[in-house]
Amino acid sequence: MDLMEYQAKELFAKHGVPVTLGVVATTPEEARAGAQQLGGRVVVKAQVKAGGRGKAGGVKLADDPDEAASRAGDILGMQIKGLTVHRVLVAPTAEIAEEYYFSFLVDRANRSYLCIASVEGGVEIEEVAHTNPDAVAKVSIDPVTGVDEAKALEIVATARFPADVTDLAVDMVQRLWAVFIEEDASLVEVNPLARLGDGTLEALDGKITLDANADFRHPERDAFDDSAAADPLERLARDKDLNYVKLDGQVGIIGNGAGLVMSTLDVVAYAGERHGGVKPANFLDIGGGASAEVMANGLEIVLGDPGVYAVFVNVFGGITACDSVADGIVAAFRLLEERGEPVTKPLVVRLDGNNADAGRRILDDAGLAGVERVDTMDGAAERAAELAAAAAERG
Ligand SMILES: Nc1ncnc2c1ncn2[C@@H]1O[C@H](COP(=O)(O)OP(=O)(O)OP(=O)(O)O)[C@@H](O)[C@H]1O
Ligand SMILES: [Mg+2]
Repeated sequence: MDLMEYQAKELFAKHGVPVTLGVVATTPEEARAGAQQLGGRVVVKAQVKAGGRGKAGGVKLADDPDEAASRAGDILGMQIKGLTVHRVLVAPTAEIAEEYYFSFLVDRANRSYLCIASVEGGVEIEEVAHTNPDAVAKVSIDPVTGVDEAKALEIVATARFPADVTDLAVDMVQRLWAVFIEEDASLVEVNPLARLGDGTLEALDGKITLDANADFRHPERDAFDDSAAADPLERLARDKDLNYVKLDGQVGIIGNGAGLVMSTLDVVAYAGERHGGVKPANFLDIGGGASAEVMANGLEIVLGDPGVYAVFVNVFGGITACDSVADGIVAAFRLLEERGEPVTKPLVVRLDGNNADAGRRILDDAGLAGVERVDTMDGAAERAAELAAAAAERG
């Protein structure tokens, strides 16, 4: 689970990482009250689980409570990378002297942890790594020994943090390590880690990813549940245990296996370039055992997106054979009809792999209205994009 900035800062505070919590607001009036309570100038920050909020106009300074209310009014309801802003954080404006970058993450390739730190923070670290790779320090961390004072000093020295913040930085690095380990995180990132006018350090932003495998030992995580903030279709999908991510295109996607679905998004986006620029509308992986119910739930969610004009079902039969998937599609059509939501949008189905012939026969025999069978992935993507573009044009 990814945390929002204000939640990450709560965990920072719990472990003594220097941070200013501020006030969370869901309306301009709450932002005004928050600014009043804090006094002085404030920064109003969009709370969404996406990077680049500042660049998108989601981080704004305000001189007084009225201005904070009006900036909150601008930011609330805004879309950042497809996510709607439902909350803002109102925090005191910090007097920033320098901005550094700091993170701990899991280094899967080397089966260890990695610390990335740079004195060139504030901006996107990928950008710094590209333009000035020498400014980005990478320090590998032995998972058994972790980060003690000596390791923290090594990190701070490798990153070339200024000498006069060394002691503060060494302390902060150890506290951030405590957040990483004790909270069972797979990512802890601070950008910017700011050096303030008075020479102290503060985490002005925070990103934390919690490892869901450790949920059982963190009952307090329930408080971070953010289903209210999620997209309604994503919430519905989660209730039905489906792996769904809403995007903003016109071609609904259903596939089995995350890798196949990812490449389906690519081929549809590519085909879409030839059909008025239509794009995939979602990611949906129905997994291995695509029962009729799972298929019906998947179709219900994808068709429930008003932006979808055609659906591409892309299945490669492995452990689940294509004939069961085809049975699932046929049964899903009946189930949706019974639920009073008959399928009216065109569906392109590609079945390949285990028992493909039997699956294709089942689909042909069923003669479902609006369902077309195309046997290659590229061909099916092309057809789905074409149908979506035509339907979108008709409106
Ligand atoms: N409390 C604050 N006081 C003054 N300036 C701030 C404060 N918080 C953030 N800023 C400024 O705004 C910039 C962007 O803020 P922040 O890092 O929180 O968002 P972001 O980096 O744009 O978003 P993301 O981290 O999601 O990519 C910071 O680099 C900093 O210069
Ligand atoms: Mg940031």
